[in-house]
Amino acid sequence: MVDIHSHILWELDDGSGSVEESIAMMQVARESGTTDIVASPHSNAEFAYRPELVDQRIRELTALTGGAPRVLRGCDFHLSFDNIDHLLDEPGTYTINGKQYLLVECPDFHVGKHTEIVLRRLVDAGIVPVVTHPERNPVLRRELSRVGEWVELGCLVQVTALSVTGGFGGAAGAACNKLLDRGMVHVVASDAHDPEHRSPNLDKAHKAIRSRYGDDAAEILFTENPRSIIEGLPVAGGKQPCLAGPKRWWQFWKEQAD
Ligand SMILES: [Fe+2]
Repeated sequence: MVDIHSHILWELDDGSGSVEESIAMMQVARESGTTDIVASPHSNAEFAYRPELVDQRIRELTALTGGAPRVLRGCDFHLSFDNIDHLLDEPGTYTINGKQYLLVECPDFHVGKHTEIVLRRLVDAGIVPVVTHPERNPVLRRELSRVGEWVELGCLVQVTALSVTGGFGGAAGAACNKLLDRGMVHVVASDAHDPEHRSPNLDKAHKAIRSRYGDDAAEILFTENPRSIIEGLPVAGGKQPCLAGPKRWWQFWKEQAD
């Protein structure tokens, strides 16, 4: 599996607090079957993004862990008018592995009307925004159709593995299921912040998606699409046919019990 969103590097944001914690996160990722993980520290009003330091920490962590999983650079880019100028000047500083895909985080409690305008500017500049965890945003949860509009614009959507398994509560879980049922999810990622509570384990969510939507859907959401993203290859946007027709609830629960 390929994990395109994590806060695995230490002391850069609210993620890993120490090199030991980062090493422990690498171990969790490796043991749950992750071969590649994107280190994507925040870039927002609270945390400045320092690409050289990110590269340095990636080199250190790789040396300490033998490079399993492989660590690549990305950024959890907080969407606002203030910071997009530098992004448009130097997109490769922020995009995943220097390719065309960018993790885009919406504000927690307010999604301005300008969001569409900014997203369109990014798409027009050749950047593919990957909207991160809309299921955890209370504003977007009330109007999930907006997420559909962004997908029509050319954005991809990433949900958090822990939302799939209910770890972010019922409202986030229900919104996550709705997005999946509507075919509006392109990637599942960990958004890991520590080795334990918000860990880089993708395995449990992978099993849940496999039970509900089948092997092909799990392969696409956890491996194929995220691998194409890190390699800069095209990803089929729009509605995801692999998620069409989720199994009936009784089939799902029967398989869980088996
Ligand atoms: Fe994040």
